[in-house]
Amino acid sequence: MVDYKTLGLVNTREMFAKAVSGGYAIPAFNFNNMEQMQAIVQAAVETKSPVIMQVSRGARDYANATLLRYMAEGAVAYAKELGCENPQIVLHLDHGDSFETCKSCIDSGFSSVMIDGSALPYDENVAVTRRVVEYAHRFDVTVEGELGVLAGVEDEVSAAESHYTKPEEVVDFVTKTGCDSLAISIGTSHGAYKFTPEQCTVDPATGRLLPPPLAFDVLEAVEKQLPGFPIVLHGSSSVPQDEVDTINAYGGALKAAVGIPEEQLRKAARSAVCKINIDSDSRLAMTAAVRKHLAEHPDHFDPRQYLKPARENMRRMYVHKIVNVLGSNNKL
Ligand code: G3H
Ligand code: 13P
Ligand code: ZN
Repeated sequence: MVDYKTLGLVNTREMFAKAVSGGYAIPAFNFNNMEQMQAIVQAAVETKSPVIMQVSRGARDYANATLLRYMAEGAVAYAKELGCENPQIVLHLDHGDSFETCKSCIDSGFSSVMIDGSALPYDENVAVTRRVVEYAHRFDVTVEGELGVLAGVEDEVSAAESHYTKPEEVVDFVTKTGCDSLAISIGTSHGAYKFTPEQCTVDPATGRLLPPPLAFDVLEAVEKQLPGFPIVLHGSSSVPQDEVDTINAYGGALKAAVGIPEEQLRKAARSAVCKINIDSDSRLAMTAAVRKHLAEHPDHFDPRQYLKPARENMRRMYVHKIVNVLGSNNKL
């Protein structure tokens, strides 16, 4: 049993309470490799922001769960080395699929876990979430549950259709499970293709696709039911069109990739939404920089030559999210 507190990590309880009352959101960035981890820590230190570093099952398969845990421990030391005296870093399991996966993360030093029972019948979602909460709280690990289904195209997290969260269920769910935060579905989805072109309108000025607005009425109804309770938004990448253009200009083929407009995320961050999940934007920033670098330097073959600009592009993107979208800067 590894106690996350001995690793210098924190759980989400205090940072969520401050974010809800302060009208901002904590960034939850996925990481799968060292360059993402470095860019996340650099951005968090530079902006004096708390940060959630999250690990999906796909990341555990790709990078090895033990290594990722040691990287998070290293992230705390790295943040201190960069000059941050008191880093607030959470190591979080993203989309835990079972009690066993959550337990293995809790036992190995994670400070927060998500149990995603959103695809299960309601009573089964309550039961598995309750079981994870009972175990996690013994070690002061915080737990995110989910109600409502997000559509998505990733390997590990996918559903054909989304279903908005039913506001009339949230009090019962939170009371019965004891979860510390709740992910809801209000129209976001995973991946770089969040909306079909048919769901969008075309901006006459730019010719770009404009997605439909998020269901803020559902968010407001949830907030009314659970005043001050921490709410989480998954699928919150904005799919920056300049990165998509760079990828396509240098040999990529991303067609009609559309994300959540940043002004909608800004609005969400000012509400009880206190955790905003971003993964796809990091993938796009990395891929755009790598494609550009290799196209411009066909003689390069040292990975450091193309991963350095990739890391720098991710850092810039993370700083932008923290300062201009989530508002979690200067909160340490
Ligand atoms: O919500 C899903 C995250 O973007 C992780 O995706 O399972 O492909 O690592 P992944
Ligand atoms: P994006 O695919 O929009 O980045 O969402 C990531 C996410 O929700 C991770 O849990
Ligand atoms: Zn997610």
